Amino acid sequence: MIKNSIVKKLNQQMNLEFDSASLYLQMSAWCSYKGFEGSAMFLKRHFQEEMQHMQRIFDYLCDINQQPIVDSVKKPHNNFESLIHLFEKNYNNEKIISMKINDLCELALTEKDFSTFEFLQWYVSEQHEEEKLFKSIVAKLNLVGSSSEGLFLVDKELKNLNEKIERH
Ligand code: FEO
Repeated sequence: MIKNSIVKKLNQQMNLEFDSASLYLQMSAWCSYKGFEGSAMFLKRHFQEEMQHMQRIFDYLCDINQQPIVDSVKKPHNNFESLIHLFEKNYNNEKIISMKINDLCELALTEKDFSTFEFLQWYVSEQHEEEKLFKSIVAKLNLVGSSSEGLFLVDKELKNLNEKIERH
């Protein structure tokens, strides 16, 4: 029987993924509005990924005969100083998510809940990839600073990356 403390944290994680989805969708809207077409597409796809992350936990809870409790979604920020400011916020959000996943793994191990620990390993690898990806975007944006040409090129690269991911 799964411990209540783990169910509670899984529910919190599910809702955190929901919040991330909503944040990335809002970020996509801001990028689109500001003419960063590639970033808008990239973030919209990422919104869909976060929805899948949320659904995985939802399904896991259902599979183990628990009722997922969907909370109200936190209203995301909708205004950003710049593209770099937006992606820094994005990267920080991913770091928080990784920390929460690690806390969950630790709890699952402490409670000897090896099924949940195993289930969480997918998230551990996913977070590693996501942090790496957003860190590299922030690094590129730091390199180009406020150069319009540089921002155009990073945005174009995100568009290409998005198209490449969608082809696979
Ligand atoms: Fe679901 Fe980007 O963490």
